[in-house]
Amino acid sequence: MSDKYPPQSGRRRFVKGMVGSGVASAGATGGSVVADVTTNESGIDAGSTRFVGIANTAGPAPRGMPLIPIEIDDGEVKGRYPETVEKETEDGSTYQSAEEELGGLTYSVRWFQFCGVERAAGIQPTADQDDFLRAGGTYSWQGELDSREVLRVEHFDDYEEWGNGVGTAGLGKPAKAYWRSEGEDVTDIPVIVMRSPEVPKMIAGEGKYANLSESVRTFLDAATANGFVAWLDKCTHFCCVPSFKASGSAKFGAENKVYCQCHQSVYDPFSPRLLTFAARPRPEP
Ligand code: FES
Repeated sequence: MSDKYPPQSGRRRFVKGMVGSGVASAGATGGSVVADVTTNESGIDAGSTRFVGIANTAGPAPRGMPLIPIEIDDGEVKGRYPETVEKETEDGSTYQSAEEELGGLTYSVRWFQFCGVERAAGIQPTADQDDFLRAGGTYSWQGELDSREVLRVEHFDDYEEWGNGVGTAGLGKPAKAYWRSEGEDVTDIPVIVMRSPEVPKMIAGEGKYANLSESVRTFLDAATANGFVAWLDKCTHFCCVPSFKASGSAKFGAENKVYCQCHQSVYDPFSPRLLTFAARPRPEP
């Protein structure tokens, strides 16, 4: 399937006033989030990018949604942001990007540069943000949490039994969350984080996961912790915010998957894949 975004060069161009412009306000449920795809293509650090994402298995979405590596810090759940690096452009000037080797692959901020997320303040290497995942959601169990409360491992203690009446219980306990999105007028970056007993099986290539490639399993081993896995929750079709075990998903065979109600795209969180897309440029800080 073709990608709707054209490839970009890494050439630096001068752009002002776009950081944190609030283009992509992220609803916690499947509400449409409009990315300004007609905006000119100026910016930095774009181009063909390999990433690991949860596979798109049905519907019009052109590709999967990228994983966000997880770290546990004293019982609190964090999304790892890549290390900041200096890069040079064709004209010899430099800019900041963020990428690192993780689990045998290059994990880069470019993984998240689509659907307007490339313009979110928190996606910039220079952002004044921590990496904790904060509750921002609509699963009913999250009613016990404060708004923007940092998610903790203990919030997921019942992950091996949890269910919400949709599909099969016990596949994992999800939370809607925000990543690197704190502060006034800062565009929210929506995430689903899930603790699942399937994660160690995927890493081991057990049973139905025997077909997962070794490179994906090695990456998963580095990018998950205590059975937690997370992905940027932006549908790659038209940027809605899908849900795992969404109501109404069963009639599309997606009761145990991630379903986008906008145009019925389906993603399988238990089917991570090595994928490629053309990342959009970030505006120059
Ligand atoms: S936005 Fe169209 S299927 Fe998700």
